Amino acid sequence: MDTTGTFWLPEGASTLSGNVDSLFYFIFWASVFFFILIVGLSLYFIIRYRRRAGREEATSHRGYNVKLEVIWTLVPIILVFIVFVWGFKTYMKMQVVPRDAVEIKVTGRQWMWVFDYPNGRNSLNELTVPVGQPIKLLLSSDDVIHSFYAPQFRVKQDVLPDRYTIAWFQAKRTGTFDLYCAEYCGNGHSQMRGTIKVVSEDDYASFLEGGGAEEGGGGMSLVALGKQTFTSRACHTCHTVDGSASVGPTLQNLYDHQVTLSNGQTITADENYIRQSILDPGSQVVQGFQPVMPTFQGLLSDRQIDGLIAYIKSLSNAQEAQ
Ligand code: CUA
Repeated sequence: MDTTGTFWLPEGASTLSGNVDSLFYFIFWASVFFFILIVGLSLYFIIRYRRRAGREEATSHRGYNVKLEVIWTLVPIILVFIVFVWGFKTYMKMQVVPRDAVEIKVTGRQWMWVFDYPNGRNSLNELTVPVGQPIKLLLSSDDVIHSFYAPQFRVKQDVLPDRYTIAWFQAKRTGTFDLYCAEYCGNGHSQMRGTIKVVSEDDYASFLEGGGAEEGGGGMSLVALGKQTFTSRACHTCHTVDGSASVGPTLQNLYDHQVTLSNGQTITADENYIRQSILDPGSQVVQGFQPVMPTFQGLLSDRQIDGLIAYIKSLSNAQEAQ
């Protein structure tokens, strides 16, 4: 049950999931038990004492019954007390971060997750963590309220602007797990998804060192690097490459074509326009679109920006350009 999940809960992959799940199932089955008991007895009495022709109406003449009063006062109190103690213990376990935890900064932004690792490396929408080690998440938002939700780890924490929140988990096995935003945060909310990659200690160490292909793109052509960056930096969340508009304008036939900005000005989308749109998106918003794109300043290497520009160029039909 722990590794496959059930109808009610997904796989429990963190050291917290045992505590959370057992409490969940206790409340669940207690609710099922009392639901059946109370509804069942109600139905039974409705049928048993219904009004029937030629029969005197059955009316209870009981006024007060000490035994009943004690039972239906004590049983709920005991249940609530059990749930409180159990819940409080679990809550404290969730709140108190182990001292040896690896700290990762998590930033929510419309509409992506930015992860900053202890050695300065960062990643977008894909959180890589070592298995069997407590991970402390220091969370904040650049704009509106988001919520970091990792169902298999039983972690859900609001991510707020101007204030830090903290969550932690320790993964029990390696693998790839889901990450969602669980707080409605605008048009791209449903796209604000990511993955959590749990890897071995060694793989985590080389991930921190690395960068390699993704960061530098050594050995890769600019277009290939740009195409890869387009996905890894989540540009595809808001921009299509097939001509259809999404949250942002499509990138097909953008390069070297005329663009009308929100201030009415018309410009040609050249390399400098694209570069500025990536680093300072609010400065040149295309007419008809909201100024919602976050800045990618500090999140892309120069070579990745070159790659993105090369990739966007490759999406343009040269014949149509003027
Ligand atoms: Cu971020 Cu919903």
